[in-house]
Amino acid sequence: MYRTMRFLLVLSVAMAGLSAASYFVLNRLTRSWFEKDLRLRTDLAVSSARRSLTEAIRVEPSKLAFVLDDITHDERIMGAAACGLSGQTLAHTNAFPSEFSCTAVVARIRREGAEGNDYWSMVSAMPLGDVHLGAARLVDGEESLGWILLVHDLSSWSRRENTTGGILIGALFILALAAAVVTIFAARFSKRDWLVDLQRALAGDEPGEFQPLVRDVRALADRLASERETEVRAGPWNAERLRSALRHHLHGERIVVLANREPYIHQRLGSEITVQHPASGLVTALEPIMRACSGVWVAHGSGSADRETVDVKNHVRVPPGEESYVLRRVWLSEEEEDGYYYGFSNEGLWPLCHLAHARPIFGARDWEQYVSVNERFAEAVSEEVDSDDPIVLVQDYHFALAPRMIRKRLPRATILTFWHVPWPNAERIGICPWREELISGMLGSSILGFHTQQHCNNFIDSVDAFMESRIDRETRAVVQGSRRTLVRPYPISIEWPVRWVETQASVAECRMSVRRDLGLPADTLLGVGVDRLDYTKGVEERLAAVDELLTRHEGFRGRFVFVQLAAPSRTKIDRYRELNERVESLTTSINRKWGHEGYQPIVLLRSHHEPSSVFRYYRAADVCYVSSLHDGMNLVAKEFVAARDDEQGVLVLSQFTGAARELTEALIVNPYDLQQASEALAVALNMPAAEQRERMRSMRRLLAEFNVYRWAGRMLVDAAELRRRERMVGRLSAFRVT
Ligand code: G6P
Repeated sequence: MYRTMRFLLVLSVAMAGLSAASYFVLNRLTRSWFEKDLRLRTDLAVSSARRSLTEAIRVEPSKLAFVLDDITHDERIMGAAACGLSGQTLAHTNAFPSEFSCTAVVARIRREGAEGNDYWSMVSAMPLGDVHLGAARLVDGEESLGWILLVHDLSSWSRRENTTGGILIGALFILALAAAVVTIFAARFSKRDWLVDLQRALAGDEPGEFQPLVRDVRALADRLASERETEVRAGPWNAERLRSALRHHLHGERIVVLANREPYIHQRLGSEITVQHPASGLVTALEPIMRACSGVWVAHGSGSADRETVDVKNHVRVPPGEESYVLRRVWLSEEEEDGYYYGFSNEGLWPLCHLAHARPIFGARDWEQYVSVNERFAEAVSEEVDSDDPIVLVQDYHFALAPRMIRKRLPRATILTFWHVPWPNAERIGICPWREELISGMLGSSILGFHTQQHCNNFIDSVDAFMESRIDRETRAVVQGSRRTLVRPYPISIEWPVRWVETQASVAECRMSVRRDLGLPADTLLGVGVDRLDYTKGVEERLAAVDELLTRHEGFRGRFVFVQLAAPSRTKIDRYRELNERVESLTTSINRKWGHEGYQPIVLLRSHHEPSSVFRYYRAADVCYVSSLHDGMNLVAKEFVAARDDEQGVLVLSQFTGAARELTEALIVNPYDLQQASEALAVALNMPAAEQRERMRSMRRLLAEFNVYRWAGRMLVDAAELRRRERMVGRLSAFRVT
């Protein structure tokens, strides 16, 4: 109904325009016809009275007025006058308008260069309506005697003009309305027919014009239905389903993960060895996959007691107490770690990939280390596989070169590379002196995954800009020779349910114990932030937003406390050390500004926190603020939602995270906009419990479905399909006649 009304409205506007245009054109046309008509009348009147006029002028001038009176017997002629050639008035009727004196008219005829013509005319507006003045030359034989002026009343013509206009507009309007009604009915009926035809064709009843379209639609519908059916039949993605997908699609082959950060770090503390879970989104996501699938995780052994805990093959079975997969540690010298990890990876690639206004540093020495360490890890992977076509999951920006190096050693391997950080646009990638080597290394992969389609597009654009290759946009692949790399978005997630939640105390107890431990009154409103101390996380902007909140909303002063859990990270790098200092001094100044005896608005806890402790804070908080300036995904946001099985608490989330595309019920903010962010914090702290529940419930529903098992499962299923296709192509090419 609304669409019909809209259609009629648009049509009316169009018709109004059309009517105005038609009216204008028609008016001009009829006016020119009417003028022609008047000329004929003038000529006729003058020529029929010529003899009397000539005689009167030549012989008896006193009679001239009578002759002119005779001419004006036609009711539409208002008056007549006879003028001499030089503009003198010879005679005129009584009603002849005084505005048209012979002097003025003849002067005007001269001015317009028409004195040689037989006829001249003009239309003039008079107080009682338009009039037409026609001047016809009076000739006797060869001699010109002067001009006879006749004034016609145009009011009847104007009346006619108005009536015609009204009739025309009315007619056009009725016509348009009729056309609209006919169009709507025709469209309705033909659409109905078209749909009936299409439905019949889809049902296979009728071959014909729709067949090619039908084939495609049917194939798509079948595929979606079968995918849906498989999904429904297989149930939600969890560890068991991932294992069975691996068995079913990849015959239970052993998975080898290559990631720089190890999932368990053994640290020596005096005479004790402790196991640490590092603060890393990559580890959060991958570890549950490895526990579900078993296999080997190849990583840098970075803990102070790591060497003491491995066997001769540098293996240690993890998780401690469960021992479901193997961690293979690779040892790096200090020089290697400085060049490959701190240097090229974290001073070059990290700022290159994140739009956080930090200038990348590319050193040739660092690059050499990056190349040789990638080789060492590729070698370690090839030592860990148990077939010549293993499945290798290469992780993140530390190993851009490894996929091609692994491919060289294991040409038949299925290599799935996942880039955990954003991939910037081609122009930005272009500043890296080794951009071609990086992209070429990544193209050794069978599948290359990013968090978002935008990052995939950026990567494809970079390939287009810097590499010799063919881009197959249909299948979203890069083809080099006979090898193809699929480039796909696989938004990463967390396990569901999260094991750290299962062992937590109730939310009420967490709220109480956290406030008690921090020395806060039980009714304190609590905000929480959880990050590695990294300049991409927007920690300074976050603290500034808290400052702004207290400035703008007096009611929160003394009542609201923000706890920042900040894990020190990459502290060998100046930029990270400087950030540490800035965050500390900002905290001090905000606390000095708003704090008083027994109240500090910001609590900065700068140390490593184990996951169970982090989850206790998530459960104790009223609001969690994730303010990253740029983040591939950000799993802290997802963990906070997972922690809140009470369906309470509000997530305030930066729009520059991958997570913001999925967790749309969070309060999405621009972390640079302190006013907006502080208002979002205020809204979060005042949000009614029912609204919190609604938002939290919807986000939890999403994470339950789109969990990390699904992420891995989809990648593995895509890989299996690719493998099958490649094997088939291999078999076919063996039969090829050469
Ligand atoms: C990011 C990276 C991961 C890395 C993590 C922690 O999430 O994408 O690869 O493990 O930061 O950084 P770190 O340097 O301590 O491993």
